[in-house]
Amino acid sequence: MGIGSTWYRKSLLTVTGMPLVEKLSATSFGKKLASRFIAGETLSEALDEIEKLGKLGIMATLDHLGEGVRDISEAEAYKTQYLTLIEGIAERKASSNVSLKPTQMGLALDPAACYANIREVVKHARRHRNFVRIDMENTPYTQSTIDIVKRLHAEGLTNAGTVLQAYLFRTEKDVRELLQARISLRLVKGAYKESAEVAFQTKAEVMDSFKSMIKQHLDRRAYTAIASHDDEIISWAKAYARSRRIPKTAFEFQMLYGLRMNEQAQLAKEGYRVRCYVPYGSMWYPYFTRRLAEKPANLMLVLKHMF
Ligand code: FDA
Repeated sequence: MGIGSTWYRKSLLTVTGMPLVEKLSATSFGKKLASRFIAGETLSEALDEIEKLGKLGIMATLDHLGEGVRDISEAEAYKTQYLTLIEGIAERKASSNVSLKPTQMGLALDPAACYANIREVVKHARRHRNFVRIDMENTPYTQSTIDIVKRLHAEGLTNAGTVLQAYLFRTEKDVRELLQARISLRLVKGAYKESAEVAFQTKAEVMDSFKSMIKQHLDRRAYTAIASHDDEIISWAKAYARSRRIPKTAFEFQMLYGLRMNEQAQLAKEGYRVRCYVPYGSMWYPYFTRRLAEKPANLMLVLKHMF
């Protein structure tokens, strides 16, 4: 994330909201390329992939793709999909928890209905001894997402956690508060286009913030979910844990399906806990474009197939 790559990420995230780009990407070749990052259109396909990952010693977190719903009945339908997904994981005895997006559950339309949807999913997960990770979206939703998770915990639904993004200035304070409240966190760099008013814009600053979040967790012996494909972060976390005699069971590395699969298997082989974020479903476009924005080589692959 130097100046050049920051510019690239921002430009791509800007054009991806445009209808023409959306249409272009909805072609069959776009779908084929997206399939590298998506574990199928159906739950059964995704569970098959999770089974394969299990054989490599890799756990999963299952995500039914979808975000920014335009009608609250759509959110209701996604909620139902999540209830089925939780049952699917239980039936197949898959080593997987669940990830969902608040706007998929209706956060932008009706916060009360969104909370009711998420609460039902988390309760269902608890019945099946499972855990729900509430993904973090862009800054209009940061505080409300944190509030949802706090409210769930206050109701005794402690099998829910969220995500904090190293690129946001506010994260340092959020980490402290949520650690205090014993809320499970996934730590990431951050995937959205955020302004210089709220977020660090250079790679060095984001890296420092990321390492500081990890350190705060490991120092307190709070279970730490480090979600990154970045070798520098992974090596740093391994070395820090070793130097403090923190056992490998006290943290996990998380990576996305389709990315650095050999490294995921290698980490598992070395005895680290590894969890793969496995998305499935037909609403792949926004997820796919965020993956393109993270790495110019992925866009080159798309362009090569276009021309
Ligand atoms: P970075 O992007 O700096 O890349 C380091 C190296 O990793 C690259 O040089 C390349 O080798 C490899 N790599 C990284 N991305 C790649 C890609 N797309 N294609 C191919 N290679 C790639 N964000 C968020 O805002 N909210 C959330 O809830 C989540 N959730 C989440 C879950 C999990 C499991 C992961 C792994 C990530 C997220 N993210 C996220 C995304 C996160 O914020 C961030 O955008 C990406 O992980 C990219 O940053 P990295 O730290 O991976 O490294």
